[in-house]
Amino acid sequence: MTTMPTQIDEFLLLHSARADRWREITTLAGDWSAGTGSRAAVEAKVSAIASLEEFHGFPGGKLFGALNERIATNDASGTSALARRISNALITRSYRDRPGEWDVHQETSSVEIAGVMPPTFGESESSRPYFEVLYVTSLPASQWPPMAAEIRRLRRPEDAFIYESVFVGSFEDAFCAAAVNPSIAAVVLAEGFPYRSRHDAPVLRSILDPLGEPEGSDVSALRLANALKRIRPELDLYLLSDRDVEQIAGDSAADCFRRIFYLVEEPLELHLSVQEGVQARYETPFFDNLKKYARRPIGTFHALPIARGKSVFKSDWIRDMGEFYGINLFLAESSATTGGLDSLLEPTGTIKRSQDLAARAFGADHVFFVTNGTSTSNKMAVQALTAPGDIVVVDRNCHKSHHYGMVLTGAQPYYVEAFPMTEYSMYGAVPLSAIKGALLALRAEGRLGRLKMLDLTNCTFDGHMYNVRRVMEECLAIKPDLIFLWDEAWSGFARFSPFLRPRTAMGAAADIEAWLRDPTSVAAYEVQRAELGDQPSDEALLTTRLLPDPRRVRLRVYQTNSTHKSMSAIRQGSMLLVKDVDFHSVEAQFHEAVFTHASTSPNQQLIASIDVARRQMELEGYGLVMNAIEVALKIRMVVNSHPLISKYFRVLGADEMIPATYRQSGFTDYIKPGTNWADVVTAMREDEFYLDPTRMTLVCGTAGFDGTQFKGLLAEKYGIQLNKTSRNSVLLQSNINNTRSDVAHLVRVLVEICNAIEKRLADGGADERAEFLARVKSLMTDVPDLPNFSHFHEVFRKDAGRDTPEGDMRSAFFGAYDASVCEYVPLFGAVCDQRLTEGPEMVSANFVIPYPPGFPIMVPGQVLTQETIDFMRKLDVTEIHGYERARGLKLLNPDAMTARAKR
Ligand SMILES: Cc1ncc(COP(=O)(O)O)c(C=O)c1O
Repeated sequence: MTTMPTQIDEFLLLHSARADRWREITTLAGDWSAGTGSRAAVEAKVSAIASLEEFHGFPGGKLFGALNERIATNDASGTSALARRISNALITRSYRDRPGEWDVHQETSSVEIAGVMPPTFGESESSRPYFEVLYVTSLPASQWPPMAAEIRRLRRPEDAFIYESVFVGSFEDAFCAAAVNPSIAAVVLAEGFPYRSRHDAPVLRSILDPLGEPEGSDVSALRLANALKRIRPELDLYLLSDRDVEQIAGDSAADCFRRIFYLVEEPLELHLSVQEGVQARYETPFFDNLKKYARRPIGTFHALPIARGKSVFKSDWIRDMGEFYGINLFLAESSATTGGLDSLLEPTGTIKRSQDLAARAFGADHVFFVTNGTSTSNKMAVQALTAPGDIVVVDRNCHKSHHYGMVLTGAQPYYVEAFPMTEYSMYGAVPLSAIKGALLALRAEGRLGRLKMLDLTNCTFDGHMYNVRRVMEECLAIKPDLIFLWDEAWSGFARFSPFLRPRTAMGAAADIEAWLRDPTSVAAYEVQRAELGDQPSDEALLTTRLLPDPRRVRLRVYQTNSTHKSMSAIRQGSMLLVKDVDFHSVEAQFHEAVFTHASTSPNQQLIASIDVARRQMELEGYGLVMNAIEVALKIRMVVNSHPLISKYFRVLGADEMIPATYRQSGFTDYIKPGTNWADVVTAMREDEFYLDPTRMTLVCGTAGFDGTQFKGLLAEKYGIQLNKTSRNSVLLQSNINNTRSDVAHLVRVLVEICNAIEKRLADGGADERAEFLARVKSLMTDVPDLPNFSHFHEVFRKDAGRDTPEGDMRSAFFGAYDASVCEYVPLFGAVCDQRLTEGPEMVSANFVIPYPPGFPIMVPGQVLTQETIDFMRKLDVTEIHGYERARGLKLLNPDAMTARAKR
């Protein structure tokens, strides 16, 4: 175990590192067999991975033992053949559906690979999905193989799934196996195991301790179960006990177990339970029903001409569409009103069931499926939770759907600013001091009662994750019934990573809920109250890590996520998650919001894809997110260390994305030498902001490209698509579908681009170099200042606080519907300059949203300042929503403002 990796990058790269290690063994064994290598080298490598391999079903003790035996008996060619077989089977995953791969005596792999090839579809002996079950037992290791064989004998043709067992003998090993082996879907805990690993495991401990599992006297299965649930809540846990199982089963602490058995008195029952547990996650009620529906012969006299595909496949002119999408798309086209399928607007059947399963998977109480993107989910949430005149503290950089939501409801935004990252023309996230400052300012004016909601984006476009728990707890300390809306459009998948989950709305809400239930929390609160005194100053409140009063807190948390952005849903598939103790008080409003925003003809395929995305995440999300993180770390490492690429490009580390004041732990970055696992876990736990590793800001200004130009180059010439750009950077995002081949392609492309730059500079001589340096300087240093929100015009602040900035945006927005009160002022020119210096004030009539960055530079009713105008003038993007270049800025004219002021 001492050879387990100690560096965090190695820990997070464990999955791909495993394949690499097997490939290394294969190469070394090949060399040994060819007479150019040594047995010692193979032996060392194989023994280095031995303990880690114990946490995986394949190759398993038999094959691994055979490999060791061949090494011990000096069988170089046999070692080489077997190592290659194992390595190939791991890469192609063929061991999952080809029983022959487990056979020691089968000399050649049934799958020979050339490079990395997926398993051949349709040829497998079994197409049943495969998973692994972890058994934690006190039985000696010598008994594990016969037990595994016995469990294998329970397999039946009727089983929907096939699984292999993995045995461990201690708390530490169980925890590690669940962490490193994403194929584990269920864990069977037989009471009586020890804490310590049977291996000498200092590194294991260094993984466990930071995750909050230090050695303790309590080695109970319950403690292990809770620890496992904390890292992988989706796992099914089974308890085997020789104690009074009836009593254990009645204890609410045992809620984490799916079933409790009296020892293994019923192995078949356990086998069936394991199957059923996975089936419960595999089940996709809406998708299953839709497939059934598509198989039925149906004639339609409904307004669904495309359904069944007859008009498509019989057409001379659009048949290619049918051929492209396949018949099922048309057979599955339907409407809720045709019967058989559920209604998204008022679900009571399979959609309802699917939503309930999603709630379970995402840790929410309720889920709404939304088929018009998170743009709609946000508007629904804002509409359902706020009414005209309510105040919402909101990040000014949040997605436009929040601002439009407030225009619709008449809620008044109290804009708070994210910290600027001027050198990269982007914003970070909103510091907690600004949020608490807003709450305290409202309190000082006696307006806290009107504050309804805090609305933030987590993670931000560029990957800043809030310390969600801390934000909520400190806000609840000031206003115990505050509602939280977390826009997690980008990071729905974070739920399935133990590293990222605590920084998600639902992860943090679960932690707060547990804290509220903990009887010691009231005492902790009272201690703080006594320290702060009855009338704490704002200064004291701002500088103290506040605890809320557990007796007064109403925990009301909402999350929206673009399932289509981070999971396997079709474009526009989105979810709205609810964890609100007072949901009953707003439930009717949510139904109204659904009626307002949902199409009465929602797309069935889209709903099905949200259902399927949930299934996938519950069954393999852990490994997939781990993969996305691995891919990101690899890109970060290669780009920043490659001698040529790093000359022109770099991916920004946490230290460059987050100012030091918000990285209290001192964490600098994942890939900095010396960074270890404990540093990462501490940063993840404590820092005010944390960088989602999967969102990579690649600086391209240093290569002479602006973001838009570089994005275009990658897309057009190399087929690489990116999301967002800034003046001098692009955002790379790794996802659950990325592979190491994608990384290799990106690296090749960057090398090619760098070579082209080098050649151009070498061929072009001094002039070319001077031009290049000037371009780099312009992109990297001549950057516009980022404007803060200025203020609403006084006429839209008639019922606002004296020192608080909220405004009646809706009146300004709808006021501008009357063309006679509007005017246009050219952005460039003397009129605009004169108005800025001499007045009358220019008041925006609408939203102006440059894309990128995609947040409003102007909102209706906002007074324009020099800062805003300067930024607009320096913008080099082509898409600016709400701004017509030919006419200029759309304003509410001075006469209209005067008339309004008199009202
Ligand atoms: C933070 C944020 N929220 C919401 C949205 C809208 O999501 P969707 O594209 O699913 O409508 C976006 C889109 O870019 C976004 O960045």
